[in-house]
Amino acid sequence: IFPSEDFGSKKVAKEIAKVITEKQQKGENAVLGLATGSSPILVYKELIRMHKEEGLSFQNVITFNLDEYYPMQPDALQSYVYFMDENLFNHIDIKRENIHIPDGTLAENEVMPFCAAYEQKIIDAGGLDIQLLGIGRTGHIGFNEPGSTLHSTTRMVKLDPLTISDAAKDFIKEEYVPQRAITMGVGTIMKARKIILIAWGQGKAPIVQKMVEEKISEDVPATFLQQHANVKVIIDEAAAGNLA
Ligand code: F6R
Repeated sequence: IFPSEDFGSKKVAKEIAKVITEKQQKGENAVLGLATGSSPILVYKELIRMHKEEGLSFQNVITFNLDEYYPMQPDALQSYVYFMDENLFNHIDIKRENIHIPDGTLAENEVMPFCAAYEQKIIDAGGLDIQLLGIGRTGHIGFNEPGSTLHSTTRMVKLDPLTISDAAKDFIKEEYVPQRAITMGVGTIMKARKIILIAWGQGKAPIVQKMVEEKISEDVPATFLQQHANVKVIIDEAAAGNLA
């Protein structure tokens, strides 16, 4: 528990940078699982600062984003492609061909093969060294809404009404929010060697309490993380407010 989002985000950026530099020293690629939304913005800002001021290089980094709305054009302001470019990729030296984000432009019948290929690409890259997660107020990680199973893989999902209403602020009107998304599964996330989940602010306090203190259940997919061998939950005092 950190005194503020700013302090917590710097800690997370350091952990990510450590994975990158350790791999660099071994001449290997670092495979990062990345999240979008408001939670990781300061983490990415700090990584950009480390790149610009401390020479942190992303030349050996391969990234896989958790999710994308469906349907979604990459150049739309709400797309996660646009978000990642604006908040991270345009400001660092990552190779464009090493960036992977689920494709919101696919035809319906192309989605299943795309998802299978996405899983295979993660495996071919050597698996996720570290996965960064936020948490939705439904208890989702990625867009694995309540009902998602432990072994779920990358797939098309329907968004929960609460997730849609939380997303409305980015889409002007709730009715413009896509009803569906493509997301890595809980099983995909659980295979990461290391996981860091971040949450900031009082609004996340009730769901953080459930994730940490309640029984593992599909009703709160983030509770599955209790079974992971190497997970850190990094939150501010406000998000910790409901913990026992
Ligand atoms: C985003 C994602 C979601 C968000 C979650 C929290 O890629 O997978 O699980 O992390 O909805 O969103 P924010 O950070 O906006 O509160």
